[in-house]
Amino acid sequence: MKKAGEKNGDHYVIRGGIPLVGEVDIGGAKNAALAIVAASIMTDETVTIENMPDVRDTNVMLEAMQGIGVTIKRLDRHTVKINGSMVKNVIVDTINIRKIRASYYLLGALLGKYKNAEVPLPGGCDIGSRPIDQHAKGFRALGAEVTIEGGIVNVKASSQHLHGAHIYMDVVSVGATINVMMAASLAEGKTIIENAAKEPHVVDVANFLNSMGANIKGAGTDVIRISGVEKLHACTYSVIPDQIEAGTFMFAAAVTKGDVLIKNVIPKHLESITAKLIEIGCEVQEFDDAVRVVASKRLKSTQIKTLPYPGYPTDMQPQAGVALALSGGVSTITESIFENRFRYVDELVRMGAQIRVEGNTAIIEGVEGFKGAHISAPDLRAGAALVIAGLAAEGITVIDNIYFIQRGYEDFDAKLRHLGAQIDEAEDERDIKKFKFKVVS
Ligand code: UD1
Repeated sequence: MKKAGEKNGDHYVIRGGIPLVGEVDIGGAKNAALAIVAASIMTDETVTIENMPDVRDTNVMLEAMQGIGVTIKRLDRHTVKINGSMVKNVIVDTINIRKIRASYYLLGALLGKYKNAEVPLPGGCDIGSRPIDQHAKGFRALGAEVTIEGGIVNVKASSQHLHGAHIYMDVVSVGATINVMMAASLAEGKTIIENAAKEPHVVDVANFLNSMGANIKGAGTDVIRISGVEKLHACTYSVIPDQIEAGTFMFAAAVTKGDVLIKNVIPKHLESITAKLIEIGCEVQEFDDAVRVVASKRLKSTQIKTLPYPGYPTDMQPQAGVALALSGGVSTITESIFENRFRYVDELVRMGAQIRVEGNTAIIEGVEGFKGAHISAPDLRAGAALVIAGLAAEGITVIDNIYFIQRGYEDFDAKLRHLGAQIDEAEDERDIKKFKFKVVS
């Protein structure tokens, strides 16, 4: 939410080369919040969600829910009350909902409660083919018919009820695990999900459903057991901190040779990121609910392979790519989750990076520094990574399509400015030039 008088631009303009120093507060996890707000409609009672990130994706989700009759009341910027007792339609369709991936959570939530749902095929970032076959497999096992026609997914219980089932996921999928968990919470009998995703937000959604009266055990391991209950009830729940926002600031500190205390985090969720930062020569201190990243020397090269949690997250791959491109040596990054996640490489090469991509591996020869350039954000996380590249670069970097970044980072530029960065939003060429010639002390 922009404050009055604040600009709402299409570009970021960054004057790089300033070490980030200070403290930053991390918001609620976007990917947990998206599933939690969808699941909130599974009770007729009012649910209060705290620590909601105010980002475009969650706002689009809330708008779509309003569109089907859900009452949404914002108590303040990060607290929302949701009441799903007046849902008048299980067909969700707004122009914006087609743009976000997490629209699929409305399938699980509506199927669980109303035994029927119709939602457009999920959109989201173009980071690779994003099938929903595992979601469909899970819903079918619970007794639903699933059809996909003309870009619309319809799920409908074959009889009046869903029934528990034993489901083995063929791939580890965050979305499919959460979706099946939601629908199974209101099914008759027991469901077992094997090869379940173990990401922190899977656990957060399970905790939220349990706070509403569901009976879910084992979330965070690869076997989740759900005993269906008849109905769910009101609760107040606070979303976990955003692991990826935190990780992005950790890498921002690393590439600018900064010293940043990243607050309101769960350090355990950041372990794979912390381990890589230590490997490349940063100092990372862990506190109860904060981490401090200090980088004073040239970064070292390393190898990274993205994997499901607790492995290194695919959503943190581009940020690591930026750091390794500045390291003293040759590094490799293997992307094993989404095939299209190296679209930031061409942009980084324009800033002077030396990277070549072979199949799902990027071979990175570290350079001494980047030079500012006019580049474009290809997707959410790649966009954030390019911002931190701009912060490390010499001179001015202009980044187009910052819309992608705003999908998942709340006040990204303001938080960076608070750490000393020179970054601003610009609406057009004139604005960009103004920034470029602004005397910066
Ligand atoms: C979620 C996150 C996304 C993150 C990803 C992996 C949200 C809204 N998005 O996406 O930011 O990058 O987890 O941590 O939470 N797959 C199938 N069939 C399916 C489902 C997935 O083959 O039915 C494959 C995907 O193509 C991918 C892998 O499984 O290769 C993991 O995808 P998944 O965990 O489902 O990602 P999302 O839930 O879409």
